[in-house]
Amino acid sequence: MSIARPARRIAVLISGTGSNMLALLDACARGDVAGEVVTVISDQPQAAGLSKAAARGVPVEAIPYEPGESRHDHDLRLRRAIEQRGADLVVLAGYMRILDVQFVQHFADRMLNIHPSLLPRHKGLHTHRRVLEAGDLVHGASVHYVTPELDGGPCVLQGYLAVRAGDDAESLRLAVHRIEHVIYPRVVGWAASGRLTILDGLPTLDGVPLQQPLREEFARS
Ligand code: GAR
Repeated sequence: MSIARPARRIAVLISGTGSNMLALLDACARGDVAGEVVTVISDQPQAAGLSKAAARGVPVEAIPYEPGESRHDHDLRLRRAIEQRGADLVVLAGYMRILDVQFVQHFADRMLNIHPSLLPRHKGLHTHRRVLEAGDLVHGASVHYVTPELDGGPCVLQGYLAVRAGDDAESLRLAVHRIEHVIYPRVVGWAASGRLTILDGLPTLDGVPLQQPLREEFARS
């Protein structure tokens, strides 16, 4: 059993656009998240999100895989970069590499991810297309703690919306992104302020264990 404590120094890991990272920076700037993004790191040197973060004055770093480098060795470099910045919370925001088990265990209870589906449905890639193929009536995004099981860690908060008859993968991607930009900063804010922790394997908010993820419905715009 661990004691809830604030996690105010945040490392964000991205691979691409970084819109969730920007939403988090905005939330910090507004004071909605009582924390600071101390570094944005990408495995992709050309990731658009890196230059966007740098333009906001956030220290950025590209840590690509070197030729022939093992996942373990790469993620050890990643861990050192995170620790050099003194981060106490790792936020995966579209980081598209599977992380080494030892890396995940090192940051156990201190690493969050956002996934574009209502977990446990549609783990992995191409979630919007798979929602349509499955004929799902609802879709959304999940914020969860990261464990060695891919997209399998305990969920904290899910945002969901109705799938419409005319939806395609792109309309769902845009709609789910809007959800993500609301729910991810909210959960990170809870962790930053010490309201959210993991106790006995369960996310615990304000001392109340979440047997099920919190769920919030979003209207379609
Ligand atoms: C987001 O939709 C996020 O849920 C997804 O990548 C996108 C990143 O967008 N993550 C995953 O699929 C992880 N399994 P962004 O770069 O604009 O934040």
